[in-house]
Amino acid sequence: MLPTLAQTTALIRHRRSIKPQDLNPARGVERELVVELIENATWAPNHGVTEPWRFHVFQDEARHELVREMERAYREVTPAAEFREDKLQKIGTNPLLAPVVIACVMERHGGAKIPSIEETEALACALQNLMLSATAAGLGSYWSSPPLLDGATFRAFLNLGPEDRCAGLIYIGWPREGLNWPRSARAPVAEKIVWRAAAGA
Ligand SMILES: Cc1cc2nc3c(=O)[nH]c(=O)nc-3n(C[C@H](O)[C@H](O)[C@H](O)COP(=O)(O)O)c2cc1C
Repeated sequence: MLPTLAQTTALIRHRRSIKPQDLNPARGVERELVVELIENATWAPNHGVTEPWRFHVFQDEARHELVREMERAYREVTPAAEFREDKLQKIGTNPLLAPVVIACVMERHGGAKIPSIEETEALACALQNLMLSATAAGLGSYWSSPPLLDGATFRAFLNLGPEDRCAGLIYIGWPREGLNWPRSARAPVAEKIVWRAAAGA
């Protein structure tokens, strides 16, 4: 049965970025559920059905390896003048606060016919599917895109091809007890719409 528009609207508007510190680190997410979220991601529109994505899932001990690689990459990409010890510490902590971290890769498949930007756009659609599905399951999710993802070290860690790109880390987990679900706001939609009348009308 299809959800109604009202249910879909409610789901879309309920989704919020839930940061790792607001997740319950002690409660894991079942593998089958992770697979379902990723499978829903793959139902996103994608030009030419090239399916330009790859999802690297880090759970349990694998998150420690992710932390090591992220710390290494942060040191690599950060100019000395911008290096911040507190940032490094956060990089070392965040992946361990979330039971699941997914490194989401735009894997280039399109060749000359489909521009790279379109495959990145398709991945973004997929990640929205993933986060909405997580929301529907009662999970918190959050998209993080630190510059270190583009560093040579991290790219090699994910075995990226020259045209591939890791567009973000999606942190997923059950909200911690007592969390007040964050509120957000958007500008009135009327400000974002241009109703075009036909010339001369
Ligand atoms: C492409 C993309 C990259 C993002 N990267 C970050 C990030 O690096 N750090 C961060 O705090 N939030 C990041 N976000 C999440 C946004 O900050 C968040 O969606 C925005 O504040 C609106 O809040 P909401 O998701 O609760 O509606 C990213 C979102 C997108 C779509």
